[in-house]
Amino acid sequence: MTVDYRHDTEVMIEAKNLTKRYGDHLAVDSLSFSAKKGEIVGLLGPNGAGKTTTMRMLTGFMPPTEGSAKISGHDVVEDSLEARRNVGYLPERVPLYPDMSVRGYVLFWARLRGVPNPKAATDAALARVNLSDRRNQLVRHLSKGLKQRLGLAQALVHNPPVIILDEPTIGIDPQQVIEVRQSVRELGKDHTVLFSTHILSEAEQVCDRVLIINRGKIVAQGKPADLRKKLQPGTLLYVQIGGAKKAQARELLTAIPGVLNVETQGDGFQVKANGDLRGDVSARVLGAGYQLLEIRTVTTSLEDIFLELVKEG
Ligand SMILES: Nc1ncnc2c1ncn2[C@@H]1O[C@H](COP(=O)(O)OP(=O)(O)OP(=O)(O)O)[C@@H](O)[C@H]1O
Ligand SMILES: [Mg+2]
Repeated sequence: MTVDYRHDTEVMIEAKNLTKRYGDHLAVDSLSFSAKKGEIVGLLGPNGAGKTTTMRMLTGFMPPTEGSAKISGHDVVEDSLEARRNVGYLPERVPLYPDMSVRGYVLFWARLRGVPNPKAATDAALARVNLSDRRNQLVRHLSKGLKQRLGLAQALVHNPPVIILDEPTIGIDPQQVIEVRQSVRELGKDHTVLFSTHILSEAEQVCDRVLIINRGKIVAQGKPADLRKKLQPGTLLYVQIGGAKKAQARELLTAIPGVLNVETQGDGFQVKANGDLRGDVSARVLGAGYQLLEIRTVTTSLEDIFLELVKEG
């Protein structure tokens, strides 16, 4: 007897110390994370970070060297058939058959996966990705963006609760990028989605939670907004002082308690502090008899933080 004990906090993807070695090369280094029902989780990392390798292990295409993973509670190695049944995968390069029709291609996958009512499932999947009106077109005549949507239909046709998409917006035109992102958000309403990208703004727009990986390891994770707060190393101020020599001004700023670092920037200084020191800074500058020409907080973009995190070495 199977008991359906699903609820909103159910863990749908679970990776435990997932590791992949290619010879001596450690591509994925003891990755642990989980994704719950209804979450869109972004795997964000630069080229070679280990995104594709991670996804191939989660979808049962490649066994882990060490560690384990479960999809909807099914181990991807020990219970591989059931795990695969629960996941739809859009690989980095979708294998498409150019001489098949759009509908024929999705139907082929539906039958291969033993979907109970393959024709109805195919039509539903095509409708979901807005390809119904192209059903009779040959795959070879589709644009790159439409091929990507066809790949998505293939990933959805067996109606899996978990969808894994490997850089679905790479190499397609901006309008289609927007459409694919919308489809992913739409899918996220009733699926658990793991979505990889190397574009930070895309992860921010599409995902509820982001895992930043570099060299096979998670270097940061959280909701995009929280990540920004957590990773921002302090408050940055831009300060421009009049009536003082550069060295004097710098000395004065550096001496203020709470100031961590002072760097020249244009005609002024970028001041890193452990809090919002605008009040202290202006009082000191004016107290020393100088003029405060400009003072403002500078927000570090998540892009800067990301680049800092994935910097070489
Ligand atoms: N089949 C393979 N044999 C040997 N090394 C591999 C193989 N596949 C990937 N690698 C290496 O493993 C590391 C992780 O690769 P992976 O493709 O998982 O990264 P990625 O994050 O998907 O990168 P990209 O953004 O370029 O798609 C890289 O250093 C890559 O060169
Ligand atoms: Mg990849």
